[in-house]
Amino acid sequence: MAIKNIRDQAMDLRRIVDSSRRPPAVRAGLRSIAVLSGKGGVGKSNLSVNLALAMAERGRRVVLLDADMGMANVDLLCGLTPGLTLAHILRGESALEDILLPLAENVWILPGGPGVRELADLDERLLSAFIDSLSALEGTADVLFIDTGAGIHKSVISFGAAADDVLLVTTPEPTSIRDAYGALKALAFSTAGKVDVTVAVNMASSFEEGQDVAERITAAASRFLGLTPRYGGAVLRDENVSLAVKKRTPLLKAFPDSEASGQVRAMAARILGLEEDHASPAPGRGIKSFFLRLARSLGAGR
Ligand SMILES: Nc1ncnc2c1ncn2[C@@H]1O[C@H](COP(=O)(O)OP(=O)(O)O)[C@@H](O)[C@H]1O
Ligand SMILES: [Mg+2]
Repeated sequence: MAIKNIRDQAMDLRRIVDSSRRPPAVRAGLRSIAVLSGKGGVGKSNLSVNLALAMAERGRRVVLLDADMGMANVDLLCGLTPGLTLAHILRGESALEDILLPLAENVWILPGGPGVRELADLDERLLSAFIDSLSALEGTADVLFIDTGAGIHKSVISFGAAADDVLLVTTPEPTSIRDAYGALKALAFSTAGKVDVTVAVNMASSFEEGQDVAERITAAASRFLGLTPRYGGAVLRDENVSLAVKKRTPLLKAFPDSEASGQVRAMAARILGLEEDHASPAPGRGIKSFFLRLARSLGAGR
């Protein structure tokens, strides 16, 4: 595959982006949100895809990085077939716009594949070439969602530590709550307590249960870890979610009027609203600084 120069990449991407309406009053600087859980199967991938769609409905331009190295499945949930992944950019074989898969107006999937692991092995020169190749996205996307894998392996925690915000997903099951807390503990440790966390409860049987689960995690995090997680809301158990998975169509597209879709939209609004509470943009935002922090945290360039 021909390697395009940076200017061509930027022009192509600008063309993609200009074809869609620029959102009104969106603050400068891409915001990265890593979706973490601890336990697998709690709904991280479904929430990532549908929150991305819900934010796009609100005028944001969203890129969703599928960073689950074990069970990458965002493409499966969306009925897409990725050919190229982040690894092709790292090796200088492809440009960013060749690997971005459009999912809906203003939503693109960025398949991570083996690229996420390879990021750790880059030397300084390759790392800086890679970061430069991301220029085309800087300033053109508003939100970068990162769907991570299960567990509290270093690479998963690195995504949380590198992102501006962490969305911690749990279900009301004790095993899921315990593992969510474990992920929070690892995050608090690796960031020396400097991490913004929002707790999302999925598959709750009622909003009261969702609130109760979040309060238990928040109380323990504040008492033992010195963190003050916020509550992002709950998505109740809804069979439309698994019906959508079987149709390989995201819930918000397959069943836009379902209760779960409404709850995902409310969560997206809440996350965006929490953002607007901040007086000024946090320093060091953007896709380049996110990947730089990530690569450093994974041990690249040493
Ligand atoms: N709100 C929900 N209600 C019912 N089932 C759900 C809900 N959210 C997720 N699921 C089910 O859980 C499964 C696992 O979700 P997934 O997003 O793949 O989890 P993870 O990415 O955390 O491993 C889905 O295939 C779906 O069947
Ligand atoms: Mg997943």
